[in-house]
Amino acid sequence: MDSVEIKIDDKPVKAKEGTKILQAALDAEIYIPNLCYIPESELPFGGCRLCYVEIEGRGLVTSCTQPVTEGMVVKTQTPAVKRLRQTAYKLLIAYHDLDCPSCWKRKKCELLRLSAKVKVKAKTPEDFRRLPTEFLPLDETNPFIIYDPNRCILCGKCVWVCTKRNGETFIDFAYRGSNTRLNISSNIPLMEEKCEDCGECVAICPTAALGLKAELAVVEKVSEST
Ligand code: SF4
Ligand code: SF4
Ligand code: FES
Repeated sequence: MDSVEIKIDDKPVKAKEGTKILQAALDAEIYIPNLCYIPESELPFGGCRLCYVEIEGRGLVTSCTQPVTEGMVVKTQTPAVKRLRQTAYKLLIAYHDLDCPSCWKRKKCELLRLSAKVKVKAKTPEDFRRLPTEFLPLDETNPFIIYDPNRCILCGKCVWVCTKRNGETFIDFAYRGSNTRLNISSNIPLMEEKCEDCGECVAICPTAALGLKAELAVVEKVSEST
């Protein structure tokens, strides 16, 4: 495959034709915020909208969906880009049960880590007004995992990894619009037969939306004893 030359933030970058702008930037050690991007996936999900960049002569695009083309000039830090990223981030946390200080995922949460990168202060409920007033119940119907819809950013990574590993997925999206969430129990007979409790869906989840039942029980015991 031929390679093309582009510029990202004035830095000359070479990338293989067809490479997505986001991947070309990350390979050149230029960070662009992202939460739903999966390098190995051929079809970008394009859901989080955090990866906006500005292309000279074209305007604003999501960098995980657009391939590089010869001579492309990309800017990752323009005022318009920063504004859009902040809006995208605020939308993600507007539906989130935001209480990082007491959240079991806080030390490895990608959503929380991005708060500093996009410069939106968000850690406690007081930092941000949550849009839906009611919290949805935890879904514990699955034999291995617990799903917290209040902390799901609908990035699709768990569905992707389950499909990749098993050739089919035991968890999938349900409902529409602001009611969209995961259905982790629709395929339970199939799951009980085939799921090896690999934990890959939990490992790839950027937030505390998915947890392994066994691990969360240990976390609960430790916090009760301290
Ligand atoms: S999932 Fe992340 S952003 Fe959400 S409350 Fe937990 S640590 Fe905070
Ligand atoms: S459960 Fe986690 S990995 Fe799955 S869609 Fe929600 S945030 Fe993404
Ligand atoms: S990383 Fe591009 S839309 Fe999520």
